[in-house]
Amino acid sequence: MTDFEIRLLSEGEQRATHEMLGRAFHDPRLTDEEWERLASAFPADRKFGAFDGDAVIGAASSFGTELAVPGGKAVPAAAVDGVGVRPDRTRRGVATALMHAQLRDCADRGEVVAYLRASEATIYGRFGYGVSARWKSLRIDTSHARFRDDAPAGGTVRLLEPDEAHELLPALYDRIGLHRPGMIARTERWWSWGHPRMIDEHVTAVHSGPDGDDGFVLYKPHDRRTLDRPEAGVALLAADLHAANLGALVGLWRFLLGVDLVGQVVAYRPLDEPIGLLLTDPRACEVTRLEDNTWLRVLDVPAALAARAYGQAAPVVIEFVDPLLAANSGRYRISPDGAERTGAPAGLRLGPEAFGMLYLGDRAPSLLAALGRVEVLNPAALPAADRLFETPLTPHCGTRF
Ligand SMILES: CC(C)(COP(=O)(O)OP(=O)(O)OC[C@H]1O[C@@H](n2cnc3c(N)ncnc32)[C@H](O)[C@@H]1OP(=O)(O)O)[C@@H](O)C(=O)NCCC(=O)NCCS
Repeated sequence: MTDFEIRLLSEGEQRATHEMLGRAFHDPRLTDEEWERLASAFPADRKFGAFDGDAVIGAASSFGTELAVPGGKAVPAAAVDGVGVRPDRTRRGVATALMHAQLRDCADRGEVVAYLRASEATIYGRFGYGVSARWKSLRIDTSHARFRDDAPAGGTVRLLEPDEAHELLPALYDRIGLHRPGMIARTERWWSWGHPRMIDEHVTAVHSGPDGDDGFVLYKPHDRRTLDRPEAGVALLAADLHAANLGALVGLWRFLLGVDLVGQVVAYRPLDEPIGLLLTDPRACEVTRLEDNTWLRVLDVPAALAARAYGQAAPVVIEFVDPLLAANSGRYRISPDGAERTGAPAGLRLGPEAFGMLYLGDRAPSLLAALGRVEVLNPAALPAADRLFETPLTPHCGTRF
């Protein structure tokens, strides 16, 4: 028996919910004018609230998007955001009840995975989320960063005014495309929620190559001065950087590293992005941190397995055990040609958290087996599973939500 009820928000309950989330995240209270600006982009649909009488004491929301999976396809995905519980009601099962209601709802909508970014790494494993992509924080020292002679030259870079950026960026992001596992489609809701402010607070630079615009970066001064060498100048944060090809990526980095009065450029990038290797002194590019970026919870195992591509190896049967979404439980035969349900004996057994860690290619089945997160029923299945799930690119989302 609980002393709260979980239900979808009705119209008119958004502001109280937003204020409650403000308490959970320690955000300042909104003025009426600020709420006016946000209200239209904070729709009630897909927002679950936990209610004690009329008072909202917890919330969890999501929006529909598409997630790129290995091999080039994308699957319908729920991007989860706005999870919070009022500070005087935490540790009493409110988030658990919200998460369970939300996962069932997203599965009923036909979404294949739920995807989120976690404020703390201790929260979501219990709901079946696993770390699906990690990122590295880079710091490049501009005084030592010289590109090698054999590095791509890149094209031209131009700055946009905020109005032009609002106009151009959605189409440019679509044009660049979901070329890396882990990327998500940026829906209208995404562009209207939070992003207008982001554009206004950053400088937008667009890269053009032989086929036109093919990359962009939003950047701003990270600190007025670099902390360890104030005389070196400003540190720039490259907050949102996307490039359709290596030429565009290098062109944008050449631009960022060449901006006057800048001592360092800081960015959060895919693990395999090779910027250091393009420099005469690779140590000018320092990895300052490596941490979880996105978490994935599978909602529809058959659809998820069928959507992604596999490497060359002998087929493997995995047994999937799902304590929450029972329809997922069962055995699946995975081969280079795809995946299907089977009655054959399983070589490996795993649950949703391990699935989330290997689905986009971030972690190998053998590592998860060594850690006890994948159970090995037939040792021959493990090296084959490693080759099947291996991906040429490391996963990376690159979109804040
Ligand atoms: C994170 C948060 C939503 C959890 O809500 P909650 O209602 O306290 O969670 P629950 O009571 O359902 O917790 C379920 C379990 O997770 C554990 N847990 C929850 N939050 C945790 C945290 N931040 N760190 C460690 N364990 C946590 C609880 O101890 C409990 O464990 P148990 O099942 O072994 O007893 C809430 O603490 C919060 O609003 N935090 C601030 C905002 C935030 O970080 N939101 C998440 C954004 S991604």
